[in-house]
Amino acid sequence: MKTVAIRFEHVGRRFATEARGEVWAVRDLDLHCDAGKVTCLVGPSGCGKTTLLRLAAGLDRPTTGRVFMNGETIAGPTAGIGLLSQEGDLLPWRRVIDNIAMGLELRGVPRAERHAQARRVLEQVRLPPEVAHSHPHELSGGMRQRVALARALCHDPRVLLMDEPFASLDEQTRERLHGEFIELWQSEPRTVLLVTHSVEEAVLLADRVVVMAAGRLTADFAVASARPRDVFQPDMIELLRRVRSALKSEPEAASSPVARGAGRKIQI
Ligand SMILES: Nc1ncnc2c1ncn2[C@@H]1O[C@H](COP(=O)(O)OP(=O)(O)OP(=O)(O)O)[C@@H](O)[C@H]1O
Ligand SMILES: [Mg+2]
Repeated sequence: MKTVAIRFEHVGRRFATEARGEVWAVRDLDLHCDAGKVTCLVGPSGCGKTTLLRLAAGLDRPTTGRVFMNGETIAGPTAGIGLLSQEGDLLPWRRVIDNIAMGLELRGVPRAERHAQARRVLEQVRLPPEVAHSHPHELSGGMRQRVALARALCHDPRVLLMDEPFASLDEQTRERLHGEFIELWQSEPRTVLLVTHSVEEAVLLADRVVVMAAGRLTADFAVASARPRDVFQPDMIELLRRVRSALKSEPEAASSPVARGAGRKIQI
């Protein structure tokens, strides 16, 4: 099946806030996420990453510009997109299986069918079958993240939007989940847009790392290294250095041609 790509064209999102007046969370942003590739978005807190993901998920509308999926304007949430939100968003009163199958339930898929699908995805994210009957509070943070991933994958979306999916985990669990996530993606390459604060995570997982500051893109790095990767590889060390330096540069750089989507790419 053909995978789809996400395209942001001159996208801006302005919020009216009581305390701060008008806030442009995203400004005139151009970004094209290639089909079947992992694009990682890094940037400081408040630079507009979640806003961008919500626009791609169809949960919010841009103030200016347009967001496309597979060439079509995104008008609202669709089955082709799976979202793993920053908070995880599992419903505490629902068993794991019913959390995972929620999207299918909303679409009217019969119970037996959606539970069968939920069990398949539970296995894909390497959780034991008995977890299906637990409630989220009975699980560890790592298990909950796996459940949230399973829920995003349950309706087999072509596009996966992930907002800091590994941020709350300890280093060992995070490393294990990184490996499992890449294996899962390699077995079926979806278009992934992943937000993270961790530059290491970005360079280990991404085909492309995009840096954001103050609502704009400020740098763009292509990552061609074979997977699995190790942060101690010389090319990874060099890329880490470059991404960190791009993150440190002043947001004024956001008005540079790269930020406006001129597309200068640094190949690693
Ligand atoms: N619904 C909203 N109403 C008003 N302001 C908002 C709203 N959503 C986001 N903002 C503002 O837009 C800016 C970008 O927020 P966003 O959540 O996209 O940042 P972020 O890059 O995801 O940050 P973090 O890394 O902390 O999650 C912030 O200034 C935030 O306060
Ligand atoms: Mg965020």
